[in-house]
Amino acid sequence: MTLTDHVTICEVGTRDGFQIEPDFIATEQKIEVVNLLAEAGLPRIEVTSFVHPKVVPQLRDAEEVMAKIRRRPGTRYAALVPNDKGAVRAADAGVDVIHTVLSASESHNLANVNMTIAESLEKLRAVMAVAARASLPVYCGISTTFGCPFEGDVPVAQVESIVRRLVDLGARGIGLADTTGMANPRQVTRVLEHVMPKFPGIEWTLHTHDTRAMAIPNILAAIECGVTNFDSSIGGLGGCPFAPGASGNVCTEDLVHCLHAMDVATGIDLDGLIAVSRRVQEIVGRTLPGQIVKAGKSDRKYAVPDAVAARLPRAS
Ligand code: COA
Ligand code: ZN
Repeated sequence: MTLTDHVTICEVGTRDGFQIEPDFIATEQKIEVVNLLAEAGLPRIEVTSFVHPKVVPQLRDAEEVMAKIRRRPGTRYAALVPNDKGAVRAADAGVDVIHTVLSASESHNLANVNMTIAESLEKLRAVMAVAARASLPVYCGISTTFGCPFEGDVPVAQVESIVRRLVDLGARGIGLADTTGMANPRQVTRVLEHVMPKFPGIEWTLHTHDTRAMAIPNILAAIECGVTNFDSSIGGLGGCPFAPGASGNVCTEDLVHCLHAMDVATGIDLDGLIAVSRRVQEIVGRTLPGQIVKAGKSDRKYAVPDAVAARLPRAS
């Protein structure tokens, strides 16, 4: 494999993860998790979203969370917005970066943000104007890039045309999102090899969900294509409330464990991250999908059973 030396992970658990939790997570607990993630060395955190509070009631405390987190130098704090109203709220709340959302398929875009793709792009033009006034970079995510739960296949030409519109509007980065875990590694390679060379200077992110256990293979395929930014969720929290069948993002600590095992650096303290994951399990009150918290790291050693020890050949 051709791997890079370093990748940058953006933690999205407090947004993509918490947004589907049915019971309201106390604002203090959200703030605690963001602070713990930053202390574990996460370079980027998508803290929350500035969307309609009736649509995603869990994140109705976005302003308060942004106002009360401890800002660690070295961590970049972002929030997701669907429109200019969200961008104004995010800028006023002091985000470092604005993340936007629209889908590559019409039906998912309508289900998620109640707009056609053309209407969303007009709103994103207004988002860019707000961001420019506040001197904030904008990273644009494209949901259902690798398939839509309503429409099935999404043509790569459609993805390319949306990327072009976003780049023309002034996007600094583009996030290709596998919203419901439909992508496979060969497809990821095909899509990335198609779009990446056409837009030099754009920072690419792959946003994965592990719905069908293909997230890490997809990330490895993307690394081989030159992508170095990945979204993930602590514990594997997550899912899209407006995409049937969606489940959690790739688990941050599982991804970091995999990368570190292959000498790909992330700047993140894995043991610290595992401790945060345990705390998040306590907060949401259930076991999360992450594997490393259950299995331990791959260098974990167990005591040799006595019967086996008795028969081990003695070293001379
Ligand atoms: N934050 C808070 N309120 C907002 C808002 C935002 N970002 N955007 C719009 N509103 C308010 C408007 O001010 C208006 O309020 P009013 O009725 O008091 O005048 C009302 O919402 C309706 O505005 P409209 O533009 O018609 O919005 P809508 O009802 O069509 O909803 C979205 C569109 C995008 C705001 C809504 O679908 C949404 O928030 N979606 C986010 C979904 C999401 O987070 N998905 C998960 C991420 S992948
Ligand atoms: Zn997602």
